[in-house]
Formats: sequence, structure tokens, C-alpha cells
Amino acid sequence: MNSSIRFDYSNLMQEVIGKEGISKKELSGYKSVSTRYRDEMKKEYESGGLKFLSLPFNKQYAKEALKFAKERINKYENFVVLGIGGSALGNIALLTALGHPYYNIVSKKERKGSPRIFILDNIDPDQFYGFLETIDIRKTLFNVVSKSGETAETMSQFLIIYDMLNRKLGKKHKNNLVITTDASKGFLRKIIEKENYDSFVVPDGVGGRFSILTPVGLLSSAFAGIDINNLLKGAASIVEMFLKNDYLKNPTMLNAALHYHFDTQKGNNISVMMPYSYKLKDFADWYRQIWAESLGKKFNLKGKEVFTGQTPIKALGVTDQHSQVQLYTEGPNNKIFTFLSVDDFDNTIKIPKLFKEIDGLAYLGNHSLNELMTFERIGTELALKAAKRPQCQILFPKVNAFTVGQFIMFYEIQTALSGKFYQINPYDQPGVEAGKKVAYALMGRKGYEDYQKEILKQLSKKETSFFV
Ligand code: PA5
Repeated sequence: MNSSIRFDYSNLMQEVIGKEGISKKELSGYKSVSTRYRDEMKKEYESGGLKFLSLPFNKQYAKEALKFAKERINKYENFVVLGIGGSALGNIALLTALGHPYYNIVSKKERKGSPRIFILDNIDPDQFYGFLETIDIRKTLFNVVSKSGETAETMSQFLIIYDMLNRKLGKKHKNNLVITTDASKGFLRKIIEKENYDSFVVPDGVGGRFSILTPVGLLSSAFAGIDINNLLKGAASIVEMFLKNDYLKNPTMLNAALHYHFDTQKGNNISVMMPYSYKLKDFADWYRQIWAESLGKKFNLKGKEVFTGQTPIKALGVTDQHSQVQLYTEGPNNKIFTFLSVDDFDNTIKIPKLFKEIDGLAYLGNHSLNELMTFERIGTELALKAAKRPQCQILFPKVNAFTVGQFIMFYEIQTALSGKFYQINPYDQPGVEAGKKVAYALMGRKGYEDYQKEILKQLSKKETSFFV
């Protein structure tokens, strides 16, 4: 039997943190609107929309990914994802959460035969060059992931790798490439058809940051030996809960209402996610994207300027206790905190009892790092509580594929529901497109000639930049 994640919002309540918190009456006040938004989502889902909700029930993608991986797992030293944003952050988070913490360093035997896995979500030339120096591309399977099939960063990586593979292996390079993209749209699909590459589909109606449970996230996970069926099972359990449970027993509805309330009524417009678990650290990054890109919007659904969105921040326990917590407890009270905690770590490490004569060290002996980690988390929670800072907690009984699947779907739903609270479209990203357009123009893409002139004029006017 899989144990579920738990949600605890007691430290957001007025009876715990005083007037900085939310009253029971205010919380109940969101019941009808939250229920209406949930019911709207349910209706959209039942009539074939909101495809991300149906992904956990579709076993086909997992089956295909596992079959593909099984047939090839022993053939490669490296599996490399070339992608960015929603086409990379989920892969990174899944590998950190469910793979060995030093996955690429342990032996292949310890990885149960799986290749090393790299997810390259940047085009920094020094990083890319260094990476190419490190691996043998002939022993590498590259997974190019781009839903649109035209993102400049990913396409540039693809062109570089394609050229290198082609020079080294000629026609045989086909065995070193697998492409994940839209079923029919985009340049990558055209290339797949022309060159007959192996490919996977990013299903229609699933946006980049909601695509972790499609082949985008499943393929690299299958190569890493992650139990992707259990991941989907966990996610499915949250969809079922969301569609069925009443407001006060529905953490996704509650947490959307709570975050909306603290942002819009209390001025807590920064949302800090702080995992007390190394395994969950990259899920704070994944959260950062889904929360920021989905809810940071200039216009509401009626076209009115609204400038919505809470700024998501990632922090890591215990590391950031010695970096951020001073600000969190004594700086401006403009944040809402979410702690991710773990009941049962996979390993226990005892601290030896040494230097008994030194009181300042002796107390540590015979405890474990597990205890210290938990007590440090409790310390931060209590310090924030004393400072009347709003905080909630997601507790993982254990970090495994099931609970991680639950967490993913929890936040996908919460984000979609929050879109309804803010009355904005959580599925587009016009602000990202603006930056992309500038890059296209400067790189000389056809059709952007006039825009390029305009940009160059703007750039030449810089009078505030000088040598120090
Ligand atoms: O969430 C999104 O839609 C974006 O973050 C995309 O994932 C990102 O821009 C990459 O796009 P693509 O997969 O089309 O290359």
C-alpha cells in the first residue's frame, strides 16, 4: 500500500500566527468560489479539455517509453536531454528525486545498467563545450525535447549535435537521436519525417510546464530506471481526490485559495518553497516555473491590465538556513512559505559520540543526521511561527515515485485553479514570447528584418555602460 503526502496549513491560521494569518471565517468564505472553479475544471476535463488531468490514466506513454528504454538501455553510456523550460525542468526534478543523489558518479552496476543522464537546459558556450569534452557522443543517445519544435536554444543544440554526429557516424547517427515533439506541428516533426528518426509525441492540449507526465518527462525517467507507472498512479490519486472531495478536505482547492488570499489580501506576494530534502530540491525549481509562468500575467481574461502573480522563490533546508532564514524571520513580512518535509529518509546516518568532554559537541553524539535534519526544520518552522510568518507544509511519508507523482499533480491542479482565482489564462506565456522575438531578430531570422533594425537602434543608444 502506498502512503500519501499530507498537507498541513495550521500555521497559516489566525489562531496560530495572529492577525497575520487567515481566520476560519475568511477561509470558509472561499468555499463557494473554489467549488465553482473546481466544478468548471471538472466540466472542462469531462468534455475533453484540460488534458493534463487525463495523463495519469493514459498508460500508453509509459508503456512506449519503457519498451524503448528496455531495448536500448545497455547500448549507451549517456542519455542526454536537450530542452529548456517545461521540456527540461521536470526531467531534472524527477532524476534528483528518484535517482541516486550522485547518479552520474556511481557505477553503471549501481545504476542497474542505466546510462548516465544529463539534462542540458542552457546554451552557455563554456558549459556546452565542457560537456562535449566530457562525453563520447558516439556512445550517447540524445533526446531532443521541444513541444513547439522551434525554440532557438534547443534547435541550436540540436543543430550542433546533429552536425557532430553526422560527421562522426554518417547515416548511422540515427541510432543516437530520439526526438520528442508535437505530433504534427513544428520543424522537428518535419525533420523526423524527412530523416526517419525515432520519436515521441507531446500530446495536443498539454502545455510545456504541464508536460512532465508525457513522454517529455517519462522517457529520461524510464532510462533512469524510475518506476514511472507508480508515478502515474500517485498523480491519478490526486486527480480523483480533486474531482471528488469537498473544499475543506481538498488540499489543492484549499492551497489555491490560501495562496490567493495571502497574495491579494495580505501582501504576501512572494511564495517560498523550501524542501528539507535534497531529493526534492529540484522540484522547487519545477514549482518556480509552473507558478511564475502560469500566474504572472499582465492581462486578465477580459483584457484588463491586472499584473498578477506571486513571485516564487526556492530555498533548500538546511543549506539556506545559513543564507536566507535571517531575512525570512526578520525581513519584510511579504512571503508565504511552503516546507516540503520527509518523514522517513531512505538512509540513516548515526553521528558518533566523540569528544565527550566538549559539551558543545557531545550533545550531537548518538543522534542521527535524520534527527538533526528534522529538528532543524522544526527550528525554522517555530522561528517563523514566532515571527508570525505564514507557512504551510507538504509532508512526504517517503520520497518515492508514488508520492512524487502526487506532488506533481497537486501543484499542476493548484496552478490551474489559481488561474481561475486570478481570472487569467495560466496556459500561455506572452511575456516569454517577447524575449524570443528579440533573439530571432538579432540572429537574423527571416521575417524579422524590420524588428532587427528597431532593436539595433535601441541597443546603440546605451549611455550608461562603461569600463570600470
Ligand atoms: O511552459 C512552457 O510552455 C515553456 O516553458 C516551454 O516549455 C519552453 O519555452 C520550451 O518550449 P518548447 O518545448 O516548445 O521548446
